[in-house]
Amino acid sequence: MGRLDLDKRYDRRGTDSVKWDHKNFVDSRVSENALPLWLSDMEFKVADEIIEALENRVKHGFLGHSMPGDKYFEAVQGWYKRRFNWDIAKDSIFYSPGVLPALGFIIRAFTKMGEGVIIQPPVFYPFAELIEGTDRVVVNNTLINNEGDYSIDFKDLEIKAKDPNNTMLILCSPHNPVGRVWTKEEITKIVDICQENDVLIFSDEIHCDLTRKNITHYPTKTLTDYNKIITAVALGKTFNVGGVPISQIIIDDDKLKETWHKETRKKHYISFAPPLDMVLTETAYNKCEYWVDEVMEYVEDNFDFLVDYLNEHLPKVKYKKPEGTFLAWVNFGAYVDYEELFEALITKYDLLIENGHTFGESGAGYFRMTVACPRSLLQEGLDRIVEAIKELTEK
Ligand SMILES: Cc1ncc(COP(=O)(O)O)c(C=O)c1O
Repeated sequence: MGRLDLDKRYDRRGTDSVKWDHKNFVDSRVSENALPLWLSDMEFKVADEIIEALENRVKHGFLGHSMPGDKYFEAVQGWYKRRFNWDIAKDSIFYSPGVLPALGFIIRAFTKMGEGVIIQPPVFYPFAELIEGTDRVVVNNTLINNEGDYSIDFKDLEIKAKDPNNTMLILCSPHNPVGRVWTKEEITKIVDICQENDVLIFSDEIHCDLTRKNITHYPTKTLTDYNKIITAVALGKTFNVGGVPISQIIIDDDKLKETWHKETRKKHYISFAPPLDMVLTETAYNKCEYWVDEVMEYVEDNFDFLVDYLNEHLPKVKYKKPEGTFLAWVNFGAYVDYEELFEALITKYDLLIENGHTFGESGAGYFRMTVACPRSLLQEGLDRIVEAIKELTEK
């Protein structure tokens, strides 16, 4: 028996939660009462230690300008050393108000307008939006999908990396939404290709702590001394604090650091960090490892539940649990057309899960849903999918 009650359901409505209060962000037809299994946001309350530390900090009564100090750096270093045997130098850790803002700074600072940035779809869709939004060109190195087993198309990556107009790769490691945790060999091969062609790697490792038992995540930086790598990590997924604007950007190379400084300090005025967020980071990394481990065990059981549920009710789906993330990527195409199913779920069955199409054309046919929730909630969502499929196939 763990310390946490992860079966407990909470009412999060009325907190301006994107997942619960702003469902029309996805589709204006979604009803107020729709069950939201979308967005990578867990339904588990944050660790008590975090709540207490934040309360104490607020009670102190001062929330003036703050900057990361030794306690903050040591907490970050300790976490990555313990969990990934990664030695990060203090002066390699930079604050950013989120991974995506950092990616925006980096695209602007390290690539020129019109240059190509390689991504591996179906992938977290804000990557493509940011590339387009900064007037760069999205270059797709689409993953190979062998009936749900995803791998990297290295031949294609080599061609794309060789093109001198393509100067950067965004690596999603572990991969959202397909749930792959790239192996040492895969990461090394990606790095070799980028190094040969002088392509900068932005390694987004925000999902690094969310792996299944017996699966190891390797931080890209621990496998190579290629200097053109920038890593992004954050607490958002790991400790379910995705609404908090803090992430750590890891840069070892002096020249890259200089460019980062110029971009963030002189162009965007980012050098301080929110005091509450630093307290949160220190407490989470120093005191809440048990919380992550327990939540990951529950998530693992939820994935097993999902596999069993689908085998029983929708056996043609042939679903396998992913190596990482708390997101299920499921294809119901053996039964129904995905657009028809999405429509029915939204308009009639009050279930909000994400249409795979959003993650790039290669995601069409799939749905993404979070399983980091009480099992009863997951079951309710699945029951609605089964009912919808039943109605659509009996039509
Ligand atoms: C791969 C990936 N990167 C970045 C983010 C968002 O990070 P942030 O909220 O720190 O910008 C997410 C959130 O879902 C994600 O899945």
